[in-house]
Amino acid sequence: MVYILGIESSCDDTSAAVFRDDIILSNVTANQEVHQNFGGVVPELASRAHQQNIIPVINTALQGANISKNEISAVAFTQGPGLLGSLLVGISFAKAFAIGLNIPLIEVDHLQAHILAHFIKEESGSSSPPRFPFLCLTVSGGHTQIVRVNHYFDMEIIGQTIDDAAGETFDKAAKIMGLPYPGGPLIDQYASEGNPAAFIFAKPNIPGLNFSFSGLKTSILYFLRDRLKEDPEFIRRNRNDLCASIQFSIIQILMQKLRQASDMTGIRQIAIAGGVSANSSLRENLLNARDLYEWEVHIPKLAYSTDNAAMIAITGYFKYLDKSFASQSSVPYARSSF
Ligand code: KG4
Ligand code: ZN
Repeated sequence: MVYILGIESSCDDTSAAVFRDDIILSNVTANQEVHQNFGGVVPELASRAHQQNIIPVINTALQGANISKNEISAVAFTQGPGLLGSLLVGISFAKAFAIGLNIPLIEVDHLQAHILAHFIKEESGSSSPPRFPFLCLTVSGGHTQIVRVNHYFDMEIIGQTIDDAAGETFDKAAKIMGLPYPGGPLIDQYASEGNPAAFIFAKPNIPGLNFSFSGLKTSILYFLRDRLKEDPEFIRRNRNDLCASIQFSIIQILMQKLRQASDMTGIRQIAIAGGVSANSSLRENLLNARDLYEWEVHIPKLAYSTDNAAMIAITGYFKYLDKSFASQSSVPYARSSF
């Protein structure tokens, strides 16, 4: 039996998880509320909060798994992509932990981990992970990609955004409406009470499997600017309809490209991953597509959609089996490498 400690600190969540083989024993996350009033993550504040949170979060994860640190077989950490100051906190802790206990150190790519979260097993309950090859729509605050997953570490990006990410579009639209950061979950919540056909925004016209969201963002900005001139209360009066219409536009763009990718590759095993995969409309659309296009769909549990260390630990476990270990000179990276 192998026990893996996973550590995630790429953005604004400090998270630690303990696995026994591919089975989750604990997964603890400390969210940072300091960023709410800034309309986005403030890197300097994020690193400081990670520094404060990391020891208590790891202790809680070890306690939750009911094991002592001496039983851990290897420590896996997020190497990137992410904020360098935030990544450095996790990587430095992991290095010290590995030296102190004389155990291997494992580097994990955050985006691969979002995808491999589909392989997390729970002690109770059955799991039916995707079979290779499958397509994964990875949608987060920083990334929007369609990935062809041939095997655990054989992944190919076949489409990606040429400007903003889907999560960033949710967050920026929310900011324009005066909602706090992160706006994605709030838009999702208000949208459930609104009419998705109330307002129509610009649709991108990008060939192939790439995405673009900057036109939509500008279209929302100009639309609201014009309406606010006539009625300063426009946003407050139409909040739910605005959220539903914005969400509808974003999800339409995602679903259209995903369908195109499935048609082009002939792959019908479809997964979603990343923070935006928590969106209720995306989940619903995927379930509809299962019946419409005969897809086999894989939707992660909410706890494994947004940033978490469980996905780092499961990826670490597969790397442990491959004996893919890192050295003490490992350094973080800000941008995607695979
Ligand atoms: O994967 P994640 O937790 O962090 C990154 O790696 O970026 O994704 C965060 C993003 C944010 O943009 C947040 O607004 C978005 O995921 N998000 C959502 C929902 N929950 C989180 N967007 C839409 N609907 C949601 N329910
Ligand atoms: Zn993420």
